[in-house]
Amino acid sequence: MDIAVQVRGLHKSFGELQVLKGVSLDIPNGEVVSIIGPSGSGKSTLARCVCNLEDIDQGEIALYGRRADKGGMSNKEQSQLVGMIFQQFNLFPHLSVLDNIILSPMKVRGIAREQAISKAAELLDRVGLSEKIDSRPNELSGGQQQRVAIARALAMEPRIMVFDEPTSALDPELVGEVLEVIAELAGSGMTMMIITHEMSFAKDVSNRVVFMADGAILEQGPPEQVLERPQEERTRTFLQRMLPHHTNVKGAEI
Ligand SMILES: Nc1ncnc2c1ncn2[C@@H]1O[C@H](COP(=O)(O)OP(=O)(O)OP(=O)(O)O)[C@@H](O)[C@H]1O
Ligand SMILES: [Mg+2]
Repeated sequence: MDIAVQVRGLHKSFGELQVLKGVSLDIPNGEVVSIIGPSGSGKSTLARCVCNLEDIDQGEIALYGRRADKGGMSNKEQSQLVGMIFQQFNLFPHLSVLDNIILSPMKVRGIAREQAISKAAELLDRVGLSEKIDSRPNELSGGQQQRVAIARALAMEPRIMVFDEPTSALDPELVGEVLEVIAELAGSGMTMMIITHEMSFAKDVSNRVVFMADGAILEQGPPEQVLERPQEERTRTFLQRMLPHHTNVKGAEI
């Protein structure tokens, strides 16, 4: 089987702080893996390492069998293998939606403008934003901006998409439209690594859920197993905090 993401014995510190303490993770091609865990457990750091946004201290990362850490591949190659979506949308504020989407395909991949535009139109249709093609980011809602960010990442035609809490910065009523786009992508067979606090979403879209705590993977398995019948006490405690409170807090606000 094709292994899309292979992480082996990954260690990463920031100064004295050991953030990843020997993480190993395989994501086969086409699998959707959700990563859950308490704040500060190293989820974002892991995602950033996979996307080569951090230098690693020890271990190996390979994408489709090619070393992806420590300058093992060019930026161009990296960007065609993996796209990352952050909590903050990071669109270029001075560019239209269209220009945000076509910039990298033209600059990094050398795609002709006409072709990039037609791909962008297709992707905007896919995320339900065709009518916003000429808008500026500040004319869009947060949910719309995040959907443009997803279209922009897809324009590079990556084989893997990494999402780091893609809906955490959104008002609650805008979360659904973004999760819908991500779920559609998952259904299309895209290989994905999704860091999320949306437990029911993780259950619906993932093939596997990985629970991280304190810089290590503590438990992983099918969503029903990890989310409903966790083996580890720390997973149980985490889920108990997440699930009921989540609903209560939301209920209390209304
Ligand atoms: N660039 C950095 N410099 C120093 N410390 C960092 C840096 N990035 C992350 N850290 C620290 O590493 C630890 C893990 O951070 P990380 O962002 O990976 O956690 P997380 O699991 O994503 O948490 P959250 O759920 O809050 O997003 C935290 O203690 C954080 O303060
Ligand atoms: Mg994080």
